Amino acid sequence: MRIALMTILLAACTTAVALMIVFRGEAAQPGVLLYGLPPDTESEVKEVVANIDRIEADALKSASSRSLDPHQQVIALGKLLLFDKQLSVNRNESCTFCHMPETGFTGPISSLNATTVAYPGSVRTRFSQRKPQTHTYATFAPILHYNVLQGDLVGGNFWDMRATGTRLGNPAAEQAQAPPLNAVEMGFPDPACVVYRLSQSPYRWLFEKVWGLEAFVIQWPTDVERVCAKPAPAPSDDPLPVHLSPGDRGNSNRTYDEMGQAIAQYEASPEVSPFSSKYDYVQGGKVKFTPQEQRGYNLFRSNRSHCNECHRDGGPGEEPLFTDFTASNLGLPKNPDIPFYRESVPDEYGYAANPRGLEFIDEGVGGYLLLRQPGQQLSGRPNPNTEWASLATKFNGKF
Ligand code: HEC
Ligand code: HEC
Repeated sequence: MRIALMTILLAACTTAVALMIVFRGEAAQPGVLLYGLPPDTESEVKEVVANIDRIEADALKSASSRSLDPHQQVIALGKLLLFDKQLSVNRNESCTFCHMPETGFTGPISSLNATTVAYPGSVRTRFSQRKPQTHTYATFAPILHYNVLQGDLVGGNFWDMRATGTRLGNPAAEQAQAPPLNAVEMGFPDPACVVYRLSQSPYRWLFEKVWGLEAFVIQWPTDVERVCAKPAPAPSDDPLPVHLSPGDRGNSNRTYDEMGQAIAQYEASPEVSPFSSKYDYVQGGKVKFTPQEQRGYNLFRSNRSHCNECHRDGGPGEEPLFTDFTASNLGLPKNPDIPFYRESVPDEYGYAANPRGLEFIDEGVGGYLLLRQPGQQLSGRPNPNTEWASLATKFNGKF
């Protein structure tokens, strides 16, 4: 009996050690998924990336072969940007890697949705702390503002509202500027790297047609390739490692703004935000709900469920967008299966995304207002309204 138990214990220890060796071995190779992910993940990732490449190639062909009016041009440009994996440090991750059309523009990888929830970045061993949101209808969010009558913050993009829209007048355009610079997402150390990659892209002509020939008139330093192949974050003593003259930096920043604006235009277009659900057809008087659907809708609107108090289905002067653009604390506990909670030790590039490990608590909007979100200093902009910092406690845990 005792010997049998010992044998089991020994076998268990050997397996544990073997597993540790396997995972450590994997950590040393860039591009390999970590943390004992389901075996399907690698093949699903390959399939998704192949689909992305196919959609990008088709979009390029269609943009080159048709004559587009100016509005169609900016939308076509936005699509090419959204599906372009060159806009990530390791040239392996487009925006749509985490936002594919077939899953309503949220994460397309079933084995990850069932386990990690969060998605790996261009450095495949890094995961962020949150689930990708769908960006369908995200462009309808107003600029983040404090509504005095509601006593609430309203608008912005991201779970924590931090893409405020206060600078470009468009939350979605500012949102699109964050993932390329997020160390756990597309991972560039400098926004100028994105502009440099765009200057080499096969659709540069379309970018110039939409925004003007000056978009890429920039004197690039000779080491730009090398600097931009190194994943974020930039060294703390050299926060903008692509060294540009002030004029070129200004031009690069403007081109980066224009990239965000084109992406937002595509997200707002019917291809991404089509208003073609059964609900929309019922509103348009084209079809009817089944009796069961009607009962569900009645319940959704009733005082028994309270769903439509937050997921607003319209009212006087209000479109039914199934959100009120505020944030709420739904009382959900942390999900320790999100790999971010284990990213406490420096990776192969010396970066630890979450030094606090399992201690980390995502404070949502409250964390943003106090600039306490991990990585926020790298990829986001500080809360634009200093008065809002005093609201932070009230917004802790709201998403
Ligand atoms: C590695 C996965 C990943 C990549 C790549 C990525 N996203 Fe996201 N996206 C997310 C996650 C996670 C969130 C929520 C993040 C948060 O709240 O901090 C998000 C949120 C968003 C939102 C906010 C939606 C809303 O309703 O507020 C939009 C829009 C969006 N992403 C568009 C993009 C665009 C455009 C790109 C490329 C420039 C991109 N994403 C690249 C994972 C990703
Ligand atoms: C107090 C406001 C509030 C009420 C009431 C509420 N929700 Fe939500 N709901 C939210 C917030 C905030 C989120 C997103 C944030 C999160 O997931 O933490 C959300 C997310 C959802 C989602 C996921 C959407 C997505 O894109 O991932 C669904 C579905 C949903 N709610 C349905 C319902 C239903 C059905 C009811 C009524 C039974 C309901 N909600 C009541 C605030 C509310």
